[in-house]
Amino acid sequence: MTNEELSTMVDTSDSWIQERSGIQERRIAAEGELTSDLATIAAERALGHAGVAPEELDLIILATATPDQTFPATAATVQARLGAKNAAAFDQQAVCTGFIFALTTADAYLRSGLAKTALVIGAETFSRILDWTDRSTCVLFGDGAGAVVLRAESGDGRVQDRGLLAIDLNTDGNLKELLYVDGGPSSTQTTGHLRMEGRDVFRHAVVNLAQTAQTVLDDLGVSGEEVDWLVPHQANLRIIDGAAKKLGVAREKVVITINRHGNTSAASIPLALATAVGDGRIQRGDLLLMEAMGGGMTWGAALMRW
Ligand code: ACO
Repeated sequence: MTNEELSTMVDTSDSWIQERSGIQERRIAAEGELTSDLATIAAERALGHAGVAPEELDLIILATATPDQTFPATAATVQARLGAKNAAAFDQQAVCTGFIFALTTADAYLRSGLAKTALVIGAETFSRILDWTDRSTCVLFGDGAGAVVLRAESGDGRVQDRGLLAIDLNTDGNLKELLYVDGGPSSTQTTGHLRMEGRDVFRHAVVNLAQTAQTVLDDLGVSGEEVDWLVPHQANLRIIDGAAKKLGVAREKVVITINRHGNTSAASIPLALATAVGDGRIQRGDLLLMEAMGGGMTWGAALMRW
């Protein structure tokens, strides 16, 4: 869906959306197409790239704020469709920070020995929870899915190791009114629509994204200049640029997909990863910095050697 199409639905324009957010178009799931459909496609492609059979998985974590149903977990549907009969599967919900939370959870399972091969998916159909009459929110979001396969390997505890090297996660529930959905099974018995105080979220994002990313850089003892790729959550091009500048990561090292995808919440980082791995920018051994923030408020960052 292009900005032009949107401007026939609400009082907005291509120039306003591009200037304020960097978005040119977003993808909308087809009628009847579910989060589990997008997640299954992403999962099959990730398994194919990794050369891992579904039966080898012992863990599936699906980060989503837009599940198919209240329960069961959408991850259970994906598990069945993949034929991943040996995998425990559950959803994890941290809205736009969901992929970093899910990656961290999977990493903890691998480190503890509870799992050996994990699939982490970020998948969303945000189009289903948008108020399509509210121009301040409906222009910003899109649908999508991405996935990664993680496998336990021993390293020697150095910066050169592959996998997740440093993680920082944060939540401040006092800020939940800044970005929420005004419905739910326990409160209204409806699904509800996304509501956002855009300016306040923006201010929060600029400060906290740079801070959480700097925390993981400091933990590993590397500088922003040593990062090969910044793979940020794609909420707003101005937020992405502001954080990259503060961290000292050059613009040409930032993976940007917001122009094509809009904000796909938990799917945005794995979609950006898939894009930059697919076009050959991200190579094995590269140091990746991921950062995200979202409803909760939640925010966090991870450093990963690809
Ligand atoms: N088209 C045209 N005009 C619009 C639109 C639109 N789609 N939306 C709002 N406006 C108007 C407003 O009404 C306002 O008009 P006014 O000055 O007459 O009141 C004017 O544009 C400016 O609005 P602001 O909200 O001040 O615009 P701002 O520059 O802050 O940009 C935006 C808005 C893009 C929402 C920005 O604040 C932002 O990106 N915030 C962060 C959002 C974010 O990151 N959300 C994702 C979090 S992740 C998750 O968990 C889902």
